[in-house]
Parts: sequence; structure tokens; C-alpha cells
Amino acid sequence: MTPPREDFAGRVALVTGGGSGIGRAIALEYARNGGTIVVLGRRPEPLEETVRLVKELGATGDSVACDVRDAGAVTAAVDSIVERYGRLDALVNNAAGNFVVPAERLSPNGWRAVVDIVLNGTFFCTRAAAPHMLAAGRGAILNVIATYAWHGHPGTVHSAAAKAGVLAMTRTLAVEWAGRGIRINCIAPGPTDTAGAGAALWATDAGRERVLGSVPMGRFATPEEIADCAMFLLSDRAAYITGEVLTVDGGQWLGKAIYGDPGA
Ligand code: HXC
Repeated sequence: MTPPREDFAGRVALVTGGGSGIGRAIALEYARNGGTIVVLGRRPEPLEETVRLVKELGATGDSVACDVRDAGAVTAAVDSIVERYGRLDALVNNAAGNFVVPAERLSPNGWRAVVDIVLNGTFFCTRAAAPHMLAAGRGAILNVIATYAWHGHPGTVHSAAAKAGVLAMTRTLAVEWAGRGIRINCIAPGPTDTAGAGAALWATDAGRERVLGSVPMGRFATPEEIADCAMFLLSDRAAYITGEVLTVDGGQWLGKAIYGDPGA
């Protein structure tokens, strides 16, 4: 575990999908760096466990159970956070849904479920946070995407299309809000060893080996490694960075195109 590098004392961050995996790791890392954390997700129990862990670190933590697909509920949740804590400094759009399916077998509902969570959910949370951040003249938004937003990937047409939309949204809003104090960036984790990603993307031992074999570094990321990089983008050290993507994937997407054996 790296020592805390940021000073988030007095700052408040909202992390969607904060009850598990990368979202929980980001929430805990923000708390370790002195910030107050609110986690949002569908199921209260995992959120409450994150809050317990945040409090164990001596930080303030809170949770809101709501579905990012429900724009009205998301707006009410964000407004209540600002009412309670007086500010919202950071928003991490991490909530995601995913499963691997051949495109021709993907039902309209399956397409809608993933696009609603990833693309619409990210916009709904962002539009709920924006008025508060614009009024304060400062805010940092971080969207968790995947490298297949730009290179695509068979079996993930819904998720890849939605993440590509989030990337385009990020770049658009970065320019729209650049002069008004809001920075908005993406982080693109490679395969990360979490229960959710494992179940959705490498459910069998053979699948897990295949994914590992596609990573030049030969290992999964830990959620903590992703969270550590997220802290940088949320911090003032990244004050001049907006509309950017930080890829944290062990070289996975660059290593994809291999023709023959390049030798040891
Ligand atoms: C085909 C499927 C399916 C599957 C669901 N559907 N799973 N189709 N193969 N494996 C279809 C259903 O049949 C239904 O369509 C439609 O999708 C909606 O399913 P519901 O279960 O009713 O939806 P819902 O309860 O809203 O669940 C949403 C979900 C679910 C996305 C389907 O998996 C979810 O909530 N996941 C959240 C957690 C998660 O996925 N985390 C992984 C993130 S990892 P019909 O037509 O039957 O009604 C990640 C990493 C990416 O994103 C980057 C890697 C590098």
C-alpha cells in the first residue's frame, strides 16, 4: 500500500458503484488521503460495508442507495449530499454493467441495460453534480472506461459502445467546462482482479488464463493500483489535465497486435 500522497482534507467525493471492486478501492483511497466519501449504488449492504471500512480509516463516510439509471433519484441524491456536506469536490463515475455475449444474440433489453448504466448513468450523475461544481467554480470528474472504447472488442458491443460514448462525453464536457473550474478525465483500467469483472469477463479458469496471456506484464491490476492512479487525476497535481485518458493496463492494448514470434 502506497503512503497517502494527496491532501483531500475538507473535500467530498461521490463514487458510484462504490460497494465493490475498483469503486470501493477508489473510495477507500480517497478516504486514506483525508477526504470525505459518499458511495452510491443499487444494493445498500455492500455500500454500508465500504462506509464501515472508510470509518475504520478515521474518515467520514456515507452511502446512498439508488440506481444511476434513474435521473431523478440521482439528482435528489446529489442534492442531498451537497445539502449535508456543503460541497461536492469530486465525482467518480464507476458504476458499470457488463457481460460477454455475441452481438447477434444480444437482446434489445440487454443492450439497453448496459448502455443505460454506463452511458446514461454517467451523464445523469454528471449533470446532477455539474450545477454544484459550476457554482463553486471547481470540481473534478473521473469516468472509469475501458480501452475497448477505442479499439473495440468482440462480445462487448454494448459496453464498448457505451464506454466510447463516455469518452466522447468526457472530451466534450472538458472543453465546455474548462473555463469554469471543472476538470473531467477518464481512467481506463486493464483487467483488474475484482469479483465483478471476473464474473462478467473471465468466468472460467481457461478464460482467466486467456486474459492473463493478453497482458504483456503477465498479471492483473490490483484495484488499489487503479485507485492510486485515480487519486492523481482527482488531485490538484492534475490541475492542467482535462479531457484526457489515463490507461492503466500493463500494456495490454498496445500488446494486442502480435505477428509471429518476436523472440525473447
Ligand atoms: C446475454 C444477458 C446476460 C448475459 C443479462 N442479459 N445477462 N444476455 N448474456 N450474460 C440480458 C437479460 O436477459 C435481459 O434481457 C437484459 O440483459 C437485462 O438483464 P437484467 O438482469 O434484467 O438487468 P439488470 O438487473 O438491470 O442487470 C444489469 C446487468 C447486470 C448489466 C445485466 O449484469 C448487472 O447489473 N451488472 C452489474 C455488475 C457488473 O456487470 N459488473 C461488471 C463490470 S466489469 P431480456 O431480453 O432477457 O429481457 C466491467 C469491466 C470492463 O465493466 C472493462 C474490462 C477491461
